[in-house]
Amino acid sequence: MIDLRSDTVTKPTPEMRAAMAAAEVGDDVYGEDPTVNRLQDRAAELFEKEAALFVASGTMGNQIAVKVHTRPGQEVIIEERSHIYNYELGMAAVLSGVTFRTVNSGDGSGHLAWHEIAGAFRPKGSDHSAETGLICLENTHNFGGGSVMTAAHCEEICGNARDLGVSIHLDGARIFNAAVAAETPVADLARYCDSVQCCLSKGLGAPVGSLLVGSREFIEEALFWRKRMGGGMRQAGVIAAAGLLALEESPKRLYEDHANARRLAFGLAELSGISIDAEKVVTNIVIFDVSGTGRSGPKLCCELKEQGVLASGFGNSVRMVTHRDVSSGNIASAISALKRILD
Ligand SMILES: Cc1ncc(COP(=O)(O)O)c(C=O)c1O
Repeated sequence: MIDLRSDTVTKPTPEMRAAMAAAEVGDDVYGEDPTVNRLQDRAAELFEKEAALFVASGTMGNQIAVKVHTRPGQEVIIEERSHIYNYELGMAAVLSGVTFRTVNSGDGSGHLAWHEIAGAFRPKGSDHSAETGLICLENTHNFGGGSVMTAAHCEEICGNARDLGVSIHLDGARIFNAAVAAETPVADLARYCDSVQCCLSKGLGAPVGSLLVGSREFIEEALFWRKRMGGGMRQAGVIAAAGLLALEESPKRLYEDHANARRLAFGLAELSGISIDAEKVVTNIVIFDVSGTGRSGPKLCCELKEQGVLASGFGNSVRMVTHRDVSSGNIASAISALKRILD
């Protein structure tokens, strides 16, 4: 099977497994796991923020951030196809008691322009509407097709938000993909954000975990919420060891995934019934419209599965994600499989 459903399907490398076996560990709830501490310190250093916290998943990191930044009854401004809004099981309502004010990004990228955010902003003190408590951004934007928000764009939003007294959380599940594509360090992409969540278990290939980074005060409160949510882990150095390798080594090879995604996108653009702007594919996510084939996305994915290719179908679209465990040869095979189905 050529598995293009997500970059979460990668298996740990032999080096990661060796590092996990050899990891120095302690009880992380006491703050005594040296490997977890090294991972957190290194993340804070890379993002040039004061502190970091190792959490079980991207969802946990994002939801703790929403909790710490908001008060119940506030609104969160967010792009309408974002992960935090669509795919985190309504947890912001459950845990934080907030509602979302979703905005569609006019250019289709998933990245809101400041004027789009400003139009949704609601000040304190209204008799009728809930105040804006937080703005969430996503870089890369998953359902924007892995699109990248530049450091300048993010800085503009953060500067304006700060003037209004509103915090910014960045869902940087794939921020290292953004950094490689934009040739910009992650620290610059997230420089003015109050917090960032970064997944180790997506393009970076670790088996488990995410990092939440921000100010020392923010991370202290995040630690409290992680424990409350049952996310206090003990000898977590076993998984943090793979995370450290993911953080240090994996970004160096992400350009290969991006090249494969472009290869895939340009191959798909040649097939009849498939609609994609291949030029817009700059990281590892390829989303294409299949309505011209007379099939829905899920139907085409079923046919692809019979040909040995796994992909994700949503409505009229199919998503394919490249990662370390797919080669350029696999990409050629996936395009051929689709061609066989459509011919
Ligand atoms: C943009 C984005 N944010 C957050 C997450 C959540 O990560 P996790 O699956 O580790 O909870 C994902 C997962 O696919 C994602 O794509």
